Amino acid sequence: MKVSVFGLGYVGSVSAASFAADGHQVIGVDVNEDKVRAISEGRSPIVEPGLPELLQEVTGTGRLRATTDVRDAVHGSDLSVICVGTPSRRNGSLDLTYLERVCSQIGEAIRDKSTYHVVVIRSTVLPGTTHGCVIPALETASGKRYGEGFGVSFNPEFLREGTALKDFREPALTLIGHNHAVDAAPTMQLYEHIAAPLHSTSIRVAEMVKYASNAWHAVKVVFANEIGNLCKRVDVDSHAVMDIFCKDAKLNLSPYYLRPGFAFGGSCLPKDLRALQYRAREVDLELPLLGAVLDSNRRQVQHAIDRVEESGRRRVGLLGFSFKAGTDDLRESPMVILAEALLGKGYELCIFDRNVSLARLVGANKQYIEEQIPHLSRHLCESIEEVIDRSDVIVIGNASPEFGTAITRCRPDQLVIDLVRVPIDFAALRAQYDGICW
Ligand SMILES: NC(=O)c1ccc[n+]([C@@H]2O[C@H](COP(=O)([O-])OP(=O)(O)OC[C@H]3O[C@@H](n4cnc5c(N)ncnc54)[C@H](O)[C@@H]3O)[C@@H](O)[C@H]2O)c1
Repeated sequence: MKVSVFGLGYVGSVSAASFAADGHQVIGVDVNEDKVRAISEGRSPIVEPGLPELLQEVTGTGRLRATTDVRDAVHGSDLSVICVGTPSRRNGSLDLTYLERVCSQIGEAIRDKSTYHVVVIRSTVLPGTTHGCVIPALETASGKRYGEGFGVSFNPEFLREGTALKDFREPALTLIGHNHAVDAAPTMQLYEHIAAPLHSTSIRVAEMVKYASNAWHAVKVVFANEIGNLCKRVDVDSHAVMDIFCKDAKLNLSPYYLRPGFAFGGSCLPKDLRALQYRAREVDLELPLLGAVLDSNRRQVQHAIDRVEESGRRRVGLLGFSFKAGTDDLRESPMVILAEALLGKGYELCIFDRNVSLARLVGANKQYIEEQIPHLSRHLCESIEEVIDRSDVIVIGNASPEFGTAITRCRPDQLVIDLVRVPIDFAALRAQYDGICW
């Protein structure tokens, strides 16, 4: 591939050198003449282990050169990779000045280019930025339409400074967001030497994956530190704890619990979080992240209540009542909290949960139902059909597979509010559908 790389900072210089090492013909572009001179002379413009040697090698073979001339770079390449900075403004918003400017410059150069040019965004930008900022700037400056004279893809960078070359070569995955296959193909070709799983998705999803990843990394650091701080106060070796914690690849470091959906509940998580908080207070320690968790969880229940209220419908059917599918345990079930809130606001309720119905007759929870929630137990129905017949809005509260099948029987005038993303045959669904956070 003939590639131009715009912005020769941490991401750009590592990407440019690595693309060149993989055999691509690369032109690096920066407004900063010192950085351009450094690359041209085979010196690294940043401190990064291994980069000086690699730059020397690829400039020596002529696979990488640098310039400040945008037109030269765009006309000398098939695709341009944008790695300019997107810093924070004082209010936290993204400063897109560099991105807009570089898009205008590339757009002007595309104006009189006769072949299709692909612009790859590698800078980190919020969802909607490629469509709202990048594409309009390119269209205005080039006088061409997106998808006709030029294409755009989004290809976030996941490297960490200090191990950037290794991260480039061995990423967890390569992610390419695009709207047209013709834009994805040359972007994928850039990475044909990288043995990492390739994920192809929409531009908006790819933009957000980068933020979800960085937010998660930040949460992990703070979580580990809060656990560490508490461990120290209560005389436990935090590293011994986290070493073992990290060995659990089933529940701890795994996709489990990482699907957007409804609030957690049950007899353990809320209770244990409260106990940790209490212990921390006893040793005069604040755990702000863990302290925010129950509050955030409560707000997720409130989101569900809001969705029902916003529907303007008064007859509500709840499918699923226990805190998760396959159990009759109602302790701290967020569905119980939802039901109580709706009842308090005067909604007509009709609730079905096969396990809870069984428990009401015989199980260990018979007493709990009769003594703790008698006001709700009288709203329990005997079948899903009854719930569907008697409701205008149907809330799916746990991921029992039978709910996904059953709601295809809903009428077109009914609304299904899904809190758990149960598998649904959407082709067969006639009711309106609303997912709580998708
Ligand atoms: N640094 C990281 O570890 C890292 C990792 C992943 C993603 N990112 C993201 O990648 C982007 C770049 O980050 P960085 O740390 O490499 O930034 P940086 O500030 O080190 O480099 C940006 C470069 O862009 C140049 N530039 C600005 N306007 C230009 C223009 N019109 N034409 C050509 N060059 C121009 C600047 O002179 C600078 O050299 C950011 O969006 C960042 O969030 C950074």
